[in-house]
Amino acid sequence: MFATESPQTLPKFETIPNDLFAAIEVLKKELNAVVIAHYYQEPDIQDIADYIGDSLGLSQQAASTNADVIVFAGVHFMAETAKILNPNKLVILPDLNAGCSLADSCPPQEFGAFKAAHPDHLVISYINCSAAIKAMSDIICTSSNAVKIVNQIPEDQPIIFAPDRNLGRYVAEQTGRDLVLWQGACIVHETFSEKKMVQLKIEHPQAEIIAHPECEPAVLRHANYIGSTTALLKYCQQSPAQEFIVATEPGIIHQMQKKAPQKNFIPAPAMNNCACNECPHMRLNTLEKLYLAMKNKTPEITIPEDIRMAAWQPIQRMLELSSTPVGA
Ligand code: 13P
Ligand code: SF4
Repeated sequence: MFATESPQTLPKFETIPNDLFAAIEVLKKELNAVVIAHYYQEPDIQDIADYIGDSLGLSQQAASTNADVIVFAGVHFMAETAKILNPNKLVILPDLNAGCSLADSCPPQEFGAFKAAHPDHLVISYINCSAAIKAMSDIICTSSNAVKIVNQIPEDQPIIFAPDRNLGRYVAEQTGRDLVLWQGACIVHETFSEKKMVQLKIEHPQAEIIAHPECEPAVLRHANYIGSTTALLKYCQQSPAQEFIVATEPGIIHQMQKKAPQKNFIPAPAMNNCACNECPHMRLNTLEKLYLAMKNKTPEITIPEDIRMAAWQPIQRMLELSSTPVGA
């Protein structure tokens, strides 16, 4: 199911222990390291992680850890967020090339011009963006708190929402707000085929469709439930349904199967007969690379201090607004 990596991409002189799980556990103790992983990571990485979560959970975890080293099994913007919150800790990412098509769809220079064209707007940016975009934002959000955060902004305050147009459109619908959207998107979540999904639903009439809000409206309109990865995981445990068509990156199905082993999870089909619903960036991380990153304490995430400080503020606002009780 998961893409395997060619052995040539690993340094030739490194010996990889047979029992990587045991070797990683030893390194965790030696380094006082915590391994935090996103649900889209390959199953072995999820199984070795000390904490698995969605983007909000991972940033909360990064904000509160006592570890000296944060091993971030996710993509670059996630590890960068951990570094922004922990300037004095070593933050390592198993593969520095693990980027994000959505973050890449919002280049800082173009976004600066967009922002300048809307001078009275508050900028709320989805966490899937670079530190430079975060530094230009007023508040960061994730898919699990975006609606809650927008609902806390006074109604007469105009808002730019960046970079994901699909999440932005969904938040606008849920809040009734007229958001100015940056037209970015995720290659993975825009790959699902409405036609094939409807066909699958005909073959599995009892199945519920659950979807991440980064999916296009044509997919979301068929969903019984829409939410962040953590919300989808909770939903399929609580729902009486026994079968689910899962419209997000299929890495999360590993946790779904662990939490609800008696239920059946079907990945939503992609438009072409490809594995393009697997995030190519997330899948660059492997257990071998994670081990080597810990052993060699590299690749390390670094951020210029002025950008880090400017990006810290809107992340901190998000963490505060996420813990505000609704209606407070
Ligand atoms: P979550 O915050 O729901 O985990 O989403 C992260 C992500 O990258 C979705 O593509
Ligand atoms: Fe980025 Fe999409 Fe991959 Fe999430 S699934 S990390 S948004 S490319």
